[in-house]
Amino acid sequence: MPETLSDALAEVRALLLRPDLTRAVAAGRRKGQTPSVVRAELRPVSLKGGPKLQIVTNDGARPFTRNVAFGDEAADAVDALLAEPFGNWHVESPGGTVQVRITKKGDAQVHRAVSEVSEAAAPASHDRAKEHLLAPDDPLFTEIGGGAAKRRQVDAFLRALAATLPDELPAHLRVVDLGCGNAYLTFAAYRYLASRGVALDVVGVDVREDQRVRNTALAERLGCADEVRFVAGTILDADVERADVVLALHACDTATDEALARAVEWEASWVLAAPCCHHDLAAQLRRQAVPSPFEGLGRHGILRERFADVLTDTVRASLLRLHGYRVEVVEFIDSAHTPRNLLIRARHTGTAPTAAVREEYTALTGGFHIEPALEKLLSRS
Ligand SMILES: C[S@@+](CC[C@H](N)C(=O)[O-])C[C@H]1O[C@@H](n2cnc3c(N)ncnc32)[C@H](O)[C@@H]1O
Repeated sequence: MPETLSDALAEVRALLLRPDLTRAVAAGRRKGQTPSVVRAELRPVSLKGGPKLQIVTNDGARPFTRNVAFGDEAADAVDALLAEPFGNWHVESPGGTVQVRITKKGDAQVHRAVSEVSEAAAPASHDRAKEHLLAPDDPLFTEIGGGAAKRRQVDAFLRALAATLPDELPAHLRVVDLGCGNAYLTFAAYRYLASRGVALDVVGVDVREDQRVRNTALAERLGCADEVRFVAGTILDADVERADVVLALHACDTATDEALARAVEWEASWVLAAPCCHHDLAAQLRRQAVPSPFEGLGRHGILRERFADVLTDTVRASLLRLHGYRVEVVEFIDSAHTPRNLLIRARHTGTAPTAAVREEYTALTGGFHIEPALEKLLSRS
């Protein structure tokens, strides 16, 4: 429902000035108006001089960062940004996410999502309606099964998808879910995107033929077999022409690398991959001593494994940047739900990598003597 712009911006203002703000982004522009900067990002930071609100604005050429003290200084800076004719505000705080989109008529369309963590911690009397992108009692789940935990996970992934895609979607989208398994996410993504009025061509890929047969029968029962189909095969070689949106939820080990490699091959506009187990670099680090002066990282098995996890996803993000993607690595669900809660989300911009990005990658892989699976996959053609 549209709300008045002043009410919506007052809600945003209050959230921006709270020290527990997680992050906020203002971008886009209102009809016929142009803000003085193309984007502004705000987050609280802890500096030597105490807590500050960090504001990074970008004029389209370069970012400009300033840190302002909470209180009058932050209020003035926030008011100045709220006065800019941005088309969208996206505000994340521990309580959830508030998204405001200013319509052509100048109204505010407000979308509020309560965070999983705050939902769990919220008292029963919490007065804000629990908002799911797909209701847990959606008949879809009755048909495809899946416990409450899986429904929460899929809903959290959908929220990340919603936060990644632009407000104005193309009329038609090709979506691929790689390593789709039982296809909870495949069908949920289909349902969510269809509800946004997009014409869809959704493909689920899994190496298991029995999954293809089961999921195809499900698509027929759900009446969406014309738009949702399933392919049996490896992610790397599956017969899929291209995709605009690539999803991969817990594709095992290097199957996530296969998914990222295909996304790069297709120049997919949006990629959301939540990695699963990481064995590739862990095995490489086990086989050799970690180079000096970082030997300590390899001394204890558990630390080496965790370091290999971080190194793997760092390298993946870095390689995506090298291939023209803007990348973020975030948690898409709380770690109590699953320790595999990282999400690599990337948007294709086509920007050529800078020398610094290239050097960073070479220093990382050269420094640790590693040859990541994704690098090998990307250089295979
Ligand atoms: C942990 S399950 C996740 C399934 C689903 N994405 C979900 O979250 O419910 C991983 C799935 O990836 C599939 N898989 C693993 N490696 C694959 C590969 N190289 N190519 C295609 N599918 C693969 C497995 O068969 C399995 O169904």
